[in-house]
Amino acid sequence: MDVIHSVTELRARLAREPNNVVVPTMGNLHEGHVKLVDNAKPRGACTVVSIFVNRMQFGPKEDFEKYPRTFLADCEKLKAAGCNVVFAPTEQEIYPEPQTFAVEPPEIQHILDGAVRPGHFRGVATVVLKLFNMVQPKAAIFGKKDYQQCIVLRNMVRQLALPIEIILAETVRAEDGLALSSRNGYLSASERKEAPQLFKVLTAARDEVAAGKRDYQRIELESMARLAGRGWKPDYIAIRRQSDLQEPDLNDRDLVIVAAARLGVTRLIDNLELSIR
Ligand code: PAF
Repeated sequence: MDVIHSVTELRARLAREPNNVVVPTMGNLHEGHVKLVDNAKPRGACTVVSIFVNRMQFGPKEDFEKYPRTFLADCEKLKAAGCNVVFAPTEQEIYPEPQTFAVEPPEIQHILDGAVRPGHFRGVATVVLKLFNMVQPKAAIFGKKDYQQCIVLRNMVRQLALPIEIILAETVRAEDGLALSSRNGYLSASERKEAPQLFKVLTAARDEVAAGKRDYQRIELESMARLAGRGWKPDYIAIRRQSDLQEPDLNDRDLVIVAAARLGVTRLIDNLELSIR
């Protein structure tokens, strides 16, 4: 496995790899990321994992400085997973001058997580486009746990006609249902026991819709009240259509229930897709 820090070196290394698949990450890797590498392996001759904590997608009150940097442990995990190239650029490499051009996602950047984290998806889309230009992959893999991010990036690639296949990988869960996330490490022992309730509430909401209930707003409000009653502070639980995360009408069949809620100081997100047939 090669560990590369500069774009020049990366381009030289990848010049002989036309079939590379990239997994963009911010490091602090867990089993969910390793699964993304597993997904990449059969699809390309060369699996590239980027590790870059992107200041541009963090709000002023968010945890950019505190975000765990675990580079050596990350490299160990990637090596064991069969990754071929780790691209770990410095901030200077990604942002050698102030980033005055940016990717401005449409309305979707202002709803749900975007409403709570202004500028977040603009920062994500901009850095991912830069990473794509640096790596020039034939495919890229993202985890569905960050559902809104997946939709923003998939729609960006489609609208800007980038020749890159976007592969969305299923969320990896602990045995009790909790979606794996770097943020789980911030939970206390008692919070960790409580955390799977987010998945439970989502599952109950999904079951109601699957059973034919169409009063989505009631289901959303009751789900949030259920979490609030257990001491959570929900930002949103919302039943949306998969394609653009707007509110569905009764003809929309491919839906997703997205949720974000704080447990203590930790903000957890999760989602469940469902198709009405
Ligand atoms: O999902 C992440 O870790 C980040 O948002 C990404 C896609 C690597 C962009 O910085």
